[in-house]
Amino acid sequence: MITKGYDISSLTKKELKALIEKNIHATDEKLLEAARYTRELAYGKKVFFRGLIEFSNYCKNDCYYCGIRKSNRNVHRYRLTKEDILNCCMTGHELGFRTFVLQSGEDLYYTDDFMLDLIHEIKNRFPDSAITLSMGEKSDESYKKYFQAGADRYLLRHETATEAHYNKLHPENMRFSNRKKALYSLKEIGFQVGAGFMVNSPYQTTDHLVNDLLFLKELEPHMVGIGPFIPHHDTIFANEKSGTVDMTVLMVALVRLLLPQALIPATTALGTIDPFGRERGLQAGANVVMPNLSPTSVRENYSLYDNKICTGDEAAECKECISGRIRNAGFEPDFSRGDYEK
Ligand code: 5AD
Ligand code: FES
Repeated sequence: MITKGYDISSLTKKELKALIEKNIHATDEKLLEAARYTRELAYGKKVFFRGLIEFSNYCKNDCYYCGIRKSNRNVHRYRLTKEDILNCCMTGHELGFRTFVLQSGEDLYYTDDFMLDLIHEIKNRFPDSAITLSMGEKSDESYKKYFQAGADRYLLRHETATEAHYNKLHPENMRFSNRKKALYSLKEIGFQVGAGFMVNSPYQTTDHLVNDLLFLKELEPHMVGIGPFIPHHDTIFANEKSGTVDMTVLMVALVRLLLPQALIPATTALGTIDPFGRERGLQAGANVVMPNLSPTSVRENYSLYDNKICTGDEAAECKECISGRIRNAGFEPDFSRGDYEK
């Protein structure tokens, strides 16, 4: 079979490093084929849709790479109300979406009571839909409450699994150990969990990428978000280089080979650095897309990096555009909940 010779699950650190270095500039077509085949065995040609609702861009964190970090005074901050969020869900539901991803900065305005009420309300109105939360590090107690209220999934990228590198991307009050602990707690509580990392972030080396792959293999998350680092003009990394499509696509393929059942998005960041970046992600084993359902009036303000695509497009336009792209690339748009299949 095509996958023969691409069982990378037992490779040592050194071997993984050599494999990455060999593929940096021109990804081995056989490796991409193996990744595609692995994804096809698991999920066929389906590409699952998730409706993303960016409900607040307030953030108490100050990650050096991120455009909405708290010390960026040039951001126009916004918060969506419960009604705004429910309206986004309603629009999304009418368009066929059956997963809503509620994403925000770490914003303490949204108390646990607010979130529980919101989760209950979404589940009441749209009982056939999954709720994914993506709102950063919280206490285990909060995570448990969200899960009991009906939230199904939680996204929390680990960003980089090497502590020293983590410390170069984050201020002192943020720790990789906390991030790791939160990810294990979320899994233990019962969420379908998403981890993930940025590719070619400042100071990143091949060894760091190897550590990311090994960390993912150990954690076994249900979802993995992988996108290129892209500079934001108001951060200290403003003059750093963007990640490459080749390296990002290689990481997608390797994660697919390591975690055959994972749900892996072709990310907006990948679509931002290359007009066909998302298609290349799909060809390398990605099987999820996350079009934006946020009101267009706030889209521009949820700017994590420069030149983000799709900020001007209505949800319906985005749905049509990306469905067409998926079909053109030889895959099938799928609007079911798209849960992790063991
Ligand atoms: N470039 C690429 N991705 C970024 N993120 C934040 N800032 C950037 C950037 N400058 C990613 C992080 C975060 C996710 C929501 O967006 O990985 O977890
Ligand atoms: Fe949003 Fe193309 S996917 S406009």
